[in-house]
Amino acid sequence: MQKNILIIGACGQIGTELTYSLREKHGSEIVVASDIREGDQPLMDSGPFELLDATDYDALEEVVAYYEIEEVYLMAAMLSATAERFPMRAWNLNMNSLFNVLNLAREKKVSKIFWPSSIAVFGPNTPKNDTPQNTIMEPSTVYGISKQSGERWCEYYHNKFDVDVRSIRYPGLISWKTMPGGGTTDYAVEIYHKALVEGTYTCFLNKDTSLPMMFMDDAIRATLELMESDPEDIKVRSAYNLSAMSFTPEEIAERIQKHIPDFTIDYEPDFRQAIADSWPSSINDEKAQTDWGWKADFDLEKTTVEMLTQLKR
Ligand SMILES: NC(=O)c1ccc[n+]([C@@H]2O[C@H](COP(=O)([O-])OP(=O)(O)OC[C@H]3O[C@@H](n4cnc5c(N)ncnc54)[C@H](O)[C@@H]3O)[C@@H](O)[C@H]2O)c1
Repeated sequence: MQKNILIIGACGQIGTELTYSLREKHGSEIVVASDIREGDQPLMDSGPFELLDATDYDALEEVVAYYEIEEVYLMAAMLSATAERFPMRAWNLNMNSLFNVLNLAREKKVSKIFWPSSIAVFGPNTPKNDTPQNTIMEPSTVYGISKQSGERWCEYYHNKFDVDVRSIRYPGLISWKTMPGGGTTDYAVEIYHKALVEGTYTCFLNKDTSLPMMFMDDAIRATLELMESDPEDIKVRSAYNLSAMSFTPEEIAERIQKHIPDFTIDYEPDFRQAIADSWPSSINDEKAQTDWGWKADFDLEKTTVEMLTQLKR
């Protein structure tokens, strides 16, 4: 029997592509997209949509009951760069939306949850290279503090109330269908757009800032694979480390120059540099590989070819 699915924050960078993928896989009618705002027309036309504020428990409960939802993907959040500007709003959105969904599952109104964490759970005292699954975390950003707290609550609800919640610490995500929503790794999307349109880009991070990144297709596939895994195989109920590639702004620029030789880049680091400096350079994802067979497909070259090809259209 098909299970009805609700995506919250469906109009964002990840939610948009997740909605398309889930609709392609299960059929449009059983995948309900929701967001606090309307999305692009193609997304709005692709299946059922509800305007929904994730912090409003009663409204959420109503949508879940109306569509007989079994599975929820909670993608609404305030991201790292924006959260530094609005700390309390970020905390309220990121935590209250999560509690609402966890409590629905505790009350057996939904049976399975996906909630994304982030590499932002790590901080300046975390080992920077090949960062292990279990290590010192101590995040120093508002966003990272909310994600780490979220992880602790997910594990708690699983252990105490048998809630089937699953999570991934996404790295910076690169995609061409939707623009990123206020994160510290947004430069790795903007750079492709600027390279094609203006032939030049001013990067808000230093040239040698290495960060973990992933192409969106890999991130969506990881999400679906984790959600389809046997519950017995999911040993981590906080969030899994996940890795694909790491590169610096200089390295991505050099890669683009192989395809657009005249492309130029300069660097004007802003407040986002401090956020990036507090995060790992590379991530160890052995646990995800062992528990549910994770393996990335896109490296920097494959990502660059795909981004430039798709954006040119
Ligand atoms: N994009 C990345 O690189 C990345 C990396 C790590 C983790 N994540 C996590 O993945 C999730 C999705 O990220 P994204 O990049 O798609 O973010 P995004 O900012 O692009 O999208 C978030 C969506 O949530 C919606 N939203 C905001 N407030 C809402 C509310 N009160 N109720 C309902 N919807 C609301 C927004 O309108 C937006 O469409 C977030 O939890 C984020 O922390 C993203």
